[in-house]
Amino acid sequence: MKPKLINSIEEMSAIRRLLKGKIGFVPTMGFLHKGHLSLVSAAKKQSDIVIVSIFVNPTQFGANEDLSNYPTDFERDIKLLTDLEVDYIFFPTDEQMYPEGYKTWVNVDKITQVLCGRSRPTHFRGVTTIVAKLMNIIDPDLMFMGEKDFQQLVVLKQMVKDLNFRTKIVGCSIIREKDGLALSSRNKYLSSQGRNKAICLNKSLLLAQKLFNEGITSSNKIISQMTDLIEDNESIIDYIEVFDPETLEHIPEVVSGSRIALAVIVENTRLIDNIKIV
Ligand code: PAF
Repeated sequence: MKPKLINSIEEMSAIRRLLKGKIGFVPTMGFLHKGHLSLVSAAKKQSDIVIVSIFVNPTQFGANEDLSNYPTDFERDIKLLTDLEVDYIFFPTDEQMYPEGYKTWVNVDKITQVLCGRSRPTHFRGVTTIVAKLMNIIDPDLMFMGEKDFQQLVVLKQMVKDLNFRTKIVGCSIIREKDGLALSSRNKYLSSQGRNKAICLNKSLLLAQKLFNEGITSSNKIISQMTDLIEDNESIIDYIEVFDPETLEHIPEVVSGSRIALAVIVENTRLIDNIKIV
């Protein structure tokens, strides 16, 4: 069956009130790739009804970021979601989500100011605000999110806990190309040369795991070798950080279970990736 397309908040809320069974929700900004589709598949497996939202949320982009040329392909997204037999696709407009006079923000302290928050200081406020709004409209039992945006996952789990949302967030593994590049809508911006350079993110994370396996635990030493590898690929490091996966606080010594995340600018595109050290 074709998914039902809904672009009004009132209609989505009204339909939701009539739905019975376990509702799985996958929030997206569209331009879907295999990473998103893996979230939808997980939602299909674990829920009775699957709702996917497509909304390029303007408030999570900074003034000099890529909102105006963020890639979209609505027709293709609908086809992919139809193939996966999603039940509902919710695609509200900017005017509905942020009508004139809009004034309310959801802000999670501290953990939004580290890692990506340093160079994108208002990003997570936009994410938490839109996801809180979507959760209020859709009231899902389960919400599926990718671990590629690891900080986003931690921030949203904190928001759900602090604001007593009943939804459980399910984190799903990073999906990669064969050569290790993590899937991202922003990979589309890369030239074929840039595409080759971009593998350095994953390579540097694998190097970190290798160093840890060889007994090197100093975060500084590991970061220094990762830095060399990335700079050899003519890419600019925004940050490389070794941290505790729950508090997101820097840790000087890597242990099994530590997370390493990085943001790197390849050509003009800022890419992120992370690994759980085992
Ligand atoms: O991860 C994303 O695509 C976005 O940040 C999200 C969660 C859909 C909110 O706009």
